[in-house]
Amino acid sequence: MLSVADLTVWFGQEPDRVTAVHGATFDLAQGESFGLVGESGSGKSTILRAIAGLIPGWSGRITVDGRDQRADRRDRAFFRTVQMVFQDPYASLHPRHSVDAVLAETLRLQGMDRIDQRIVKLLDDVGLGRGFRFRYPHQLSGGQRQRVAIARALAAEPRLLLLDEPTSALDVSVQAEILNLLADLRDEHGLTYLMVSHDLSVIAHMCDRLAVMQRGRIVEILPAANLRAGQGAQPYTTHLIEASAGYRPEARP
Ligand SMILES: Nc1ncnc2c1ncn2[C@@H]1O[C@H](COP(=O)(O)OP(=O)(O)OP(=O)(O)O)[C@@H](O)[C@H]1O
Ligand SMILES: [Mg+2]
Repeated sequence: MLSVADLTVWFGQEPDRVTAVHGATFDLAQGESFGLVGESGSGKSTILRAIAGLIPGWSGRITVDGRDQRADRRDRAFFRTVQMVFQDPYASLHPRHSVDAVLAETLRLQGMDRIDQRIVKLLDDVGLGRGFRFRYPHQLSGGQRQRVAIARALAAEPRLLLLDEPTSALDVSVQAEILNLLADLRDEHGLTYLMVSHDLSVIAHMCDRLAVMQRGRIVEILPAANLRAGQGAQPYTTHLIEASAGYRPEARP
């Protein structure tokens, strides 16, 4: 579904150029859920943003569903296959656009027909229901806003979702609801996930495999089962597991 090969991403121009990602390589199979973890500033969001075409300075190879992505822009076909959900549902929705307007606009942009039926179906799919259709963001809780952001991402009927800390701006009780929703949606729609989280227990719960990043480099790719068992091959991974506050691998006493 996704292949990233020797991806290097930088910001700015020489002599002030900062390289945020150095030679990252990983692949996602169709239907897989793949996590990216690592300390703050290690380049996780940068990888997602580069895949989504939001950063101009990159080299290497990004292939989505067999199609090579060009350096400067992504076309409509790309966004029909790949959608992104951001961390902050407060910042990602326009305050003066109703839920209906947001979803209708996205559906029209994708050239979809039967807009009314699709909006109702999307709201059902994310557990909101049609009663939320004409609300504005300020009339929604954080969790409800994130459900709207997920509905907007699903409107294009994508196959790959790029999820950047999709629950970390939310209250702990709401986090589990949104994670369960994402897990259900993946099953129902056969989606592939590339998910960033600083919370290892979220990745352990949601992902099949993960990459551990440190200072812009992938130091290890491991099965999530190893993370759940508290086993990393690289010392940095072990350090991260041990440092992860509140995370208790089941395999340990
Ligand atoms: N627009 C930008 N211009 C310049 N440097 C940037 C920009 N965006 C990110 N960076 C730098 O790139 C590096 C990687 O940042 P990135 O946001 O990918 O980290 P992250 O792993 O997502 O961290 P966090 O867990 O805090 O979200 C950091 O050093 C950051 O300062
Ligand atoms: Mg980030």
